[in-house]
Amino acid sequence: MNLDLTEEQIQIRDTVRELCQNEFASHAEKWDREDDVPRWAVDKLAELGLLGMAVPEEFGGLGSDLRTTVIVIEEIARVSAALAILFAVHNSVGAYPIYEFGTDEQRKRWLPRLTSTDMGAFSLSEPASGSDASALLATAVKDGDHYVLNGSKNWITNGMHAWTFLVFARTGGPGPKGISAFILERDTPGLTVGKCEDKMGLRGSHTVTISLDDVRVPEICRLGPENEGFKIALSALDKGRIGVAAQALGVMQAAFGEAARYAQQRQAFGGPLSKIQAVQFKLAEMERRVQGAKLLIQKAAWLKDTGQPCTRAAAVAKLYATEAATWVTHQAIQVHGGYGYVKEYPVERYYRDVRVMEIYEGTSEIQRLVIARSALKDGVGV
Ligand code: CAA
Repeated sequence: MNLDLTEEQIQIRDTVRELCQNEFASHAEKWDREDDVPRWAVDKLAELGLLGMAVPEEFGGLGSDLRTTVIVIEEIARVSAALAILFAVHNSVGAYPIYEFGTDEQRKRWLPRLTSTDMGAFSLSEPASGSDASALLATAVKDGDHYVLNGSKNWITNGMHAWTFLVFARTGGPGPKGISAFILERDTPGLTVGKCEDKMGLRGSHTVTISLDDVRVPEICRLGPENEGFKIALSALDKGRIGVAAQALGVMQAAFGEAARYAQQRQAFGGPLSKIQAVQFKLAEMERRVQGAKLLIQKAAWLKDTGQPCTRAAAVAKLYATEAATWVTHQAIQVHGGYGYVKEYPVERYYRDVRVMEIYEGTSEIQRLVIARSALKDGVGV
């Protein structure tokens, strides 16, 4: 694996870094306070073509690889984890599966708008099925050349403003082999966007429920073969999980930076905190976790980009990076003492923002299950 970034990757990283510093950094605290990432922030990403990261140019995208996408997620997350997840979900599990699993007709119908202006969302979870995703209850019943969908979906990132929802519903018997994927447009009769969750962190990224009441859609809205939708969901989540790992990496680097800066400024016991070994050890542990996460994320993305299986590596990257981010943001507050506990310093927001990263797109427990199953089946350490 070559860890060097290409010229193009460096250019995109620097452009996004500049955008984040110049346009977003000064607003991130307000977005959190007001629980709203405004539309203009998405428009800025769209102007750079970032709504179509991996989608090929012929459908309006940039045709970038996953390594480039995760670099962008990391950069955005350094200033706003809320904007980063909005971007990551849209690209990884909202828009790209339509390219990867869609027919040319479906690509032409939905991708040009998704890569230029509108957001996509992913609707797998339900009130009674989260980790046990293949137990979902929403139904899609065939009626001539249409399907009629009924059920409830929740924990939908981007759902408040999304144009499309990639919805998973039961078309066959119980379990993973009876599920199909559907692309539903927001204004389809019977699709109602419900309440927006009042979350602990990632405020500004809207998380909603939707209800499906006799939503009637033509066959073209089914993505992939009937009853093979669960594999589409898990395959999309492989990419999504690498993205969440990158999001965690971005936030933990921001928290580390704040902790290092504060430790150098704050005086105690006759000198700066940074001269105290107990504090130095915390900073060293932060560096260890940042470096470890970076390597695991790059490896998982490289496996995907080179067409190799990446499920286990994605789970390892997500598990490691999100737990590392929890640790780093916790310790960043500790270095700040009481000041870390108040909103005047950004580490308070970072701490709240990372908490969900060990939960969404597969909990840490689910990542361990995926890793263990894979290691037992295909061998350890490969
Ligand atoms: N890619 C493609 N196919 C895969 C796959 C992958 N990564 N992993 C498994 N499959 C295939 C399997 O091979 C199997 O097919 P075959 O029988 O033909 O071999 C089929 O999918 C079913 O797999 P399992 O038997 O392993 O299914 P399971 O019911 O035991 O579930 C699980 C496995 C790992 C627990 C899965 O349910 C899971 O990942 N759960 C967590 C769900 C999750 O991450 N939810 C997050 C939702 S999104 C969100 O958080 C909000 C948002 O807005 C993004």
